Amino acid sequence: ILNLRKDPKPPKLSNPKPFAKIITESNEMLKLLREAELHAQSDVPILITGESGTGKELLARAIHNASPRKESPFTPLNMASFSETLFDAEFFGHTKGAFTGAEKDRRGYLEYTDGGTLFLDEIGILPFELQGKLLRVLQDGEFIKLGSNKNKRVNIRFIAATNENLSEKTAQGKFRKDLYYRLNGAWLHIPPLRERKEDIPLLTNKFLREYTLKGKSSSISKEAMDVLLSHNYPGNVRELKSIIQFSVNLAQGETIKIYHLPKYVQKVKPKKHKVSKGRQTEDLPLDEVVKNHILKVYENTGRNKTKTASVLGIGLNTLRRKLSLYGVS
Ligand SMILES: Nc1ncnc2c1ncn2[C@@H]1O[C@H](COP(=O)(O)OP(=O)(O)OP(=O)(O)O)[C@@H](O)[C@H]1O
Ligand SMILES: [Mg+2]
Repeated sequence: ILNLRKDPKPPKLSNPKPFAKIITESNEMLKLLREAELHAQSDVPILITGESGTGKELLARAIHNASPRKESPFTPLNMASFSETLFDAEFFGHTKGAFTGAEKDRRGYLEYTDGGTLFLDEIGILPFELQGKLLRVLQDGEFIKLGSNKNKRVNIRFIAATNENLSEKTAQGKFRKDLYYRLNGAWLHIPPLRERKEDIPLLTNKFLREYTLKGKSSSISKEAMDVLLSHNYPGNVRELKSIIQFSVNLAQGETIKIYHLPKYVQKVKPKKHKVSKGRQTEDLPLDEVVKNHILKVYENTGRNKTKTASVLGIGLNTLRRKLSLYGVS
């Protein structure tokens, strides 16, 4: 893996199909996918880290589908959804009469997933006590059903994911060290979208095709794409996806322009846009900045006064007055 990381050219996947849903042309991502494909062949536990919306679950599913376990269940479990009282019954299952209300035998997620892959999402949230119980399953593949006194064995591949800094949590004593090292058999970190901007046009086009309204086509203007390229995406790919869905709805088959993007995205200043004569905005008098901005929006809306006024949040008459002042009408 070490020289894999040094290789400037991304390695090819030997079987790209399981990873086909992961759209990327970033070198770093392609190397990551190749690593994932190699680890998929074994049962090594995998820890996937990355900000919210970077595609951790998508990657976990791809690894499962690329693995010899692909015909067995892939079970995603969000650790945030377990209360301590529910955990045992849901995770390990229970026998009939194990507790009040246990009217019949119940298979837990472990038994259900036997032979497959268990995806432990938001692992950082799991309470300390439950971490111990999980560790035991990871170590020996053994557990005891509630109400039973027999050990059961399962054969499960574990993939965990988190958007927290787990090694920091471990150092602070908030996450069990032994469990951390167990889970972290292989570590795959998905970089945030803002660090792989080359993926933005690619993903935009994919989502455009996905959300295109029936009988309409969709495309996006260069200016709007510049805005998308300058946005910083705290919600990563999930955020870009919902921005495109929103814009496709507003554009109604027209080319997507800046004013079709959600307002909070429009506020981003495209980095490529230079203010007149190369002077920085900071050096300009306010009137000039206002003028540049109004004219830019006016151009971006295809010289549509109603849309420009609405984007700027000013009245149509105010806009008309300003435009004639600038000698534009
Ligand atoms: N590279 C990608 N190509 C195509 N779609 C992607 C990509 N990355 C993420 N997505 C899409 O973005 C959305 C979020 O992905 P996913 O749920 O896997 O993220 P996550 O990292 O698990 O997020 P969270 O931390 O919030 O749970 C999904 O709809 C997924 O299909
Ligand atoms: Mg997720």
